[in-house]
Amino acid sequence: MNHDMSDIIGKSRALRAVLEMAMKVAPTQSTVLITGESGSGKELVAHAIHAQSDRRDKYFLPVNCGALPETLLESLLFGHMKGSFTGAFANQEGLFERARGGTIFLDEIGEIPQHLQVKLLRVLEAREILSIGSTTPRKVDVRVLAATNRELQKEVEQGRFRDDLYFRLNVMEIHIPPLRERPEDIPLLVEHLIEKHNPELKRHFKGAEPAVIQALMSLPWKGNVRELDNVIEHTMILADGDWIRLEDLPRSLLGGKEAVHAYTPNLKEALKQFEKQHIERVLEQVSQDRKEASRLLDISLSSLYRKIEEFGIS
Ligand SMILES: Nc1ncnc2c1ncn2[C@@H]1O[C@H](COP(=O)(O)OP(=O)(O)OP(=O)(O)O)[C@@H](O)[C@H]1O
Ligand SMILES: [Mg+2]
Repeated sequence: MNHDMSDIIGKSRALRAVLEMAMKVAPTQSTVLITGESGSGKELVAHAIHAQSDRRDKYFLPVNCGALPETLLESLLFGHMKGSFTGAFANQEGLFERARGGTIFLDEIGEIPQHLQVKLLRVLEAREILSIGSTTPRKVDVRVLAATNRELQKEVEQGRFRDDLYFRLNVMEIHIPPLRERPEDIPLLVEHLIEKHNPELKRHFKGAEPAVIQALMSLPWKGNVRELDNVIEHTMILADGDWIRLEDLPRSLLGGKEAVHAYTPNLKEALKQFEKQHIERVLEQVSQDRKEASRLLDISLSSLYRKIEEFGIS
């Protein structure tokens, strides 16, 4: 899939700052360290930087540095020579070489073992690699983007991450704030996610009711956008109708006390809710006689009609 900046949804000040920085750094050759909690969009931003750079027609190679044992990771990144270890039947090119003018994305860089940290530093400083079993360094043309959900600074203080590598990586840091710190992004994200899942689930949801959006805006989202994505998909599978309603959301989501207390409508919203309920009550009282209701409410008949329309009172 080809990503660009427009795939990154959100209008919060925090997210706009992320986008602005990504746009600025994209056309350079700089190494970028992207930080943020799990599911906050680090890979999405990395991909967008690549897509916005002049390397866009070359490879974007994501590597999860935390997922592989040390020797495998080393061989994957730097390659190996035939016979350098049991099972090395032929020369094998590493990803740094295979990127050939492209971008490599080192995810979970905080997990990279110490001796590979040294080798990585060499790539960043001299743009050269040493394959396992080789004694001649080779030049590579690769841009390095890295990401972590750990606090690398702390890893450095505790001696688990080399400070020279940290300084090299940290020249340009893009921090993506957690979703709960930018709830303004949730309405657009929900809309985007519904549009994304509609075709694959063969559904035709038009959106989510305001109460749903408000409830979602109040949740802590420890798993960030990925968790929101999963909740929306789960809800769309089970719900019917055109609009996602509050009762369609998974019970476990709103069940926690935390969530219920976290949501406080602002004054304008609370007044609107009260206004709607009150109008409904009065209309019921006078058996839907709108003229009589407007008299009791002491508003003109036309503004009563307007409010009925606005609040969707039937
Ligand atoms: N601002 C956003 N707009 C649209 N989609 C987003 C946004 N942020 C994240 N996503 C989506 O959320 C999911 C998780 O994002 P991504 O994989 O980039 O997170 P991550 O930070 O790399 O997570 P991890 O640390 O777990 O690897 C992806 O499907 C991604 O497309
Ligand atoms: Mg990731």
